[in-house]
Amino acid sequence: MVLTWRNHPEVRAVSLTTHEIRPDEHAAWWAARTAEVLIYEEDGIPAGVVIFNGTTWSFYLDVDGLGKRLLPAWMRLEKEAVEYAFGTLGLPSLGGETLADNKQVLALHRRFGFRETRRYERLVDGVPKTVVWTERTP
Ligand SMILES: CC(C)(COP(=O)(O)OP(=O)(O)OC[C@H]1O[C@@H](n2cnc3c(N)ncnc32)[C@H](O)[C@@H]1OP(=O)(O)O)[C@@H](O)C(=O)NCCC(=O)NCCS
Repeated sequence: MVLTWRNHPEVRAVSLTTHEIRPDEHAAWWAARTAEVLIYEEDGIPAGVVIFNGTTWSFYLDVDGLGKRLLPAWMRLEKEAVEYAFGTLGLPSLGGETLADNKQVLALHRRFGFRETRRYERLVDGVPKTVVWTERTP
């Protein structure tokens, strides 16, 4: 389920590696899970992934399954992730990378109190792309 979500063309297009992840690659990542991987649910139905790696976070949703409900799900996920990070995990700060072209998510982060602190280039499958780092404190 998680692999299908991650391999959705819209998720790959905004990710820092864009190749289609193979089942064996996914299985190895899942087995290793050095980061905390949480499943986001909408009305009890699995609908996305939130990854916490130290004070860094990232997320992706089930784009096909959510359809028109994608935007409200984004907002609920972001709210719950922030609460979890500062409540349950007690993190001192929370930051993440978003591609500069990913305007919708950058606007969402701003709305949830994240501030852009730096911009830098990163190679995404060999192509330089601008990445925006946003972070916030409790
Ligand atoms: C989209 C986004 C999650 C992609 O980030 P990413 O660095 O490519 O991948 P993640 O942070 O999810 O995962 C960290 C690592 O685990 C890997 N990984 C994540 N899910 C995986 C899976 N299902 N199978 C195998 N590997 C996986 C990633 O490839 C990455 O590997 P790397 O460290 O070698 O680069 C991230 O840019 C982000 O949070 N952007 C803002 C939110 C957004 O736009 N989300 C998508 C909207 S639906």
